[in-house]
Amino acid sequence: MLQRISLTQFLIGEQRAGRVSADLRLLLEVVARAVKAISVTISKGALAGVLGEAGTENVQGEAQKKLDVIANEILLQANEWGGHLAAMASEEVENVCQIPFDYPKGGYLLLFDPLDGSSNIDVNVTVGTIFSVLKNPAKKDADPVEADFLQPGREQVAAGYAAYGPSTQLVLTVGKGTHAFTLDREMGFFVLTHPYMTVPDETREYAINASNERYWEAPVQRYISELRQGKEGPRGADFNMRWIASMVADVHRVLTRGGIFMYPLDEKTRAKGGKLRLMYEANPMAMLIEQAGGAATTGRQRILDVQPQKLHQRVPVILGSRAEVERVTSYHNV
Ligand code: AHG
Ligand code: MN
Ligand code: MN
Repeated sequence: MLQRISLTQFLIGEQRAGRVSADLRLLLEVVARAVKAISVTISKGALAGVLGEAGTENVQGEAQKKLDVIANEILLQANEWGGHLAAMASEEVENVCQIPFDYPKGGYLLLFDPLDGSSNIDVNVTVGTIFSVLKNPAKKDADPVEADFLQPGREQVAAGYAAYGPSTQLVLTVGKGTHAFTLDREMGFFVLTHPYMTVPDETREYAINASNERYWEAPVQRYISELRQGKEGPRGADFNMRWIASMVADVHRVLTRGGIFMYPLDEKTRAKGGKLRLMYEANPMAMLIEQAGGAATTGRQRILDVQPQKLHQRVPVILGSRAEVERVTSYHNV
């Protein structure tokens, strides 16, 4: 019989290899459980009355969907009582989320984008959850403050995302490779289906919101125009374009079959520093892509080396097949 490795077995293996502590294993199991709950809720859709607007705004001034709020609650409640966390941070919450005083505290910080690609919920297109795990640098019993979270992405001890698509997949790294697990709905657990994923380097696909073209900087204009010239242009090959508007879904495609994903700096988002959030979108995705042999930069700097200044900081993102990311980055750095 085909030997199927569950997420639990995988994590125990990582613990025995010394790459995952008992608390980190618990943390990742709890996140996976929350992801399962979010997956069930999302798949019920209109039947459970979870589509549409929540009628509220988050800290970033974005209208919240009902599922933004529900996914956030599921993650916070699942993670607050286990004793593995010092605190949490979420796209949907302005300040650090403290562990209620009647529960013990642990040594890790968990950051997440509970529901990524919110604009796709109501049209039944793939959305996701993105998360990042850091160590709490401060003393164990003190309440962590924002500054404790402001560590560059290279300090992450684990990162991952869930893609709620035709199947639900959990993609995870604990610093040794990027691995995808598929949810077996009947059995109720995640099964390792894509160990050691690699971003193919030979690629002919790019993902960018081309409606922003007139706002892009010159290096991005140049790069995309070269791709669009196809066989007749300087690249001597045709390139195809895909844009789902869920970072999780777009990055999952890049991880699976190569390509480049870009939400670059442009005149529309310059004042904010970019569109995507550094701590719970760019950093975890950059770690997953690097662990799969790809690259991730802001156009000017490796994402994992950016020193965060704020919890909800935004950053330009260019990630995917190494050669392509290096090419766009070199256009910025001439
Ligand atoms: P979120 O739903 O968590 O706010 O993130 C949406 C992000 C990301 O998923 C996606 O790549 C991007 O916004 C899409 O932006 P556009 O609508 O500008 O294409
Ligand atoms: Mn997002
Ligand atoms: Mn979100």
